[in-house]
Amino acid sequence: MEKQTILTGIRPTGHLHLGHYFGACSNWIKLQEKFDTYIEIADVQALTDNFNNPDKVRKSVRQLVVDLLSIGIDPKKATIFIQSTIPEIAELTVFYSNLVTIARLQRNPTVKTEIKQKKELFGESGESITYGFLGYPVSQAADITAFKGKLVPVGEDQLPLIEQCREIVHKFNSIYGQTLIEPKAYLSEIPRIKGLDGNEKMGKSLGNAIFLADDEKTIKQKIMGAITDPNKIKIDDPANPNICMVYYYHKLIKNPNIETVCEECKNGKRGCVVCKKELINHMLEFLKPITDKRKYYENHPEIVDQILKEGNQKAKKIAENTMKEVKKSMKINYFE
Ligand code: TRP
Ligand code: SF4
Repeated sequence: MEKQTILTGIRPTGHLHLGHYFGACSNWIKLQEKFDTYIEIADVQALTDNFNNPDKVRKSVRQLVVDLLSIGIDPKKATIFIQSTIPEIAELTVFYSNLVTIARLQRNPTVKTEIKQKKELFGESGESITYGFLGYPVSQAADITAFKGKLVPVGEDQLPLIEQCREIVHKFNSIYGQTLIEPKAYLSEIPRIKGLDGNEKMGKSLGNAIFLADDEKTIKQKIMGAITDPNKIKIDDPANPNICMVYYYHKLIKNPNIETVCEECKNGKRGCVVCKKELINHMLEFLKPITDKRKYYENHPEIVDQILKEGNQKAKKIAENTMKEVKKSMKINYFE
């Protein structure tokens, strides 16, 4: 039986953090065993937000690929490619842009949240909202459909974008005839990871993230500053681990002593400093194999480039094929 295709993407704007890892990427590592897996480094999408910072996007592309390889994405099983090397995606974006209204894009919950964040950053002028930014969900629909992705493994924040893609596909197929596949989102077990500060979401711009590439000193500092039960003042005060971020990360990285942590915390038998130190040790142990692999790829940039070149080539062929079908359906295949 032919393997089903899954496609996912990630913006190159910096290193991966635990939110990416547990919220989405660890799922990709499992899925690559069973599915024909495509992972897009969404540089064009990153530029919608960072068009005035091309150096950052460029640098992040290889950094991100190194991170992905370090956590166990296997280039023999998953095709990693760069969005901008597939011009078909840009072409599809233009065609799809007729199938979505501006009002609908403005109502997209993910876009709405991002616009709100931008306004908080840049003030109410709204000047920072470009045509390209508002349209990125259309471009994301092109990402997914170019590869006939059936399942899209993502974190929870991406659900409105998958829904937007489904609507575009539905409209396309109903006007031009059955051509594209309506994708389904595929959430991981924990689709959203909390930040060190207790925020519901770990995010790079929120300053509450542990990056997979953080060095020992940074990890120590960050964990020592994590939010614990605010009612625990003295070492022997009983506390509630369920409102403590240190406990949350103990659980997340599967500390085998988790029961003890919980009991001791509840009974006032554990101080927060000791508890944090224990988490630091487990975190460093958890990150060690990832760090070792990163060093390997950082020392072999030619291997990373080769993986990307091959990935781009393979992805391009599939997108070209979809493009032919789309042009035929839209009756713009003039010389066939
Ligand atoms: N929007 C996603 C993010 O912000 C990245 C992305 C780009 C993506 N293209 C995609 C995700 C296609 C899933 C499918 O991380
Ligand atoms: Fe959190 Fe540990 Fe302190 Fe309990 S003892 S509040 S789990 S840091």
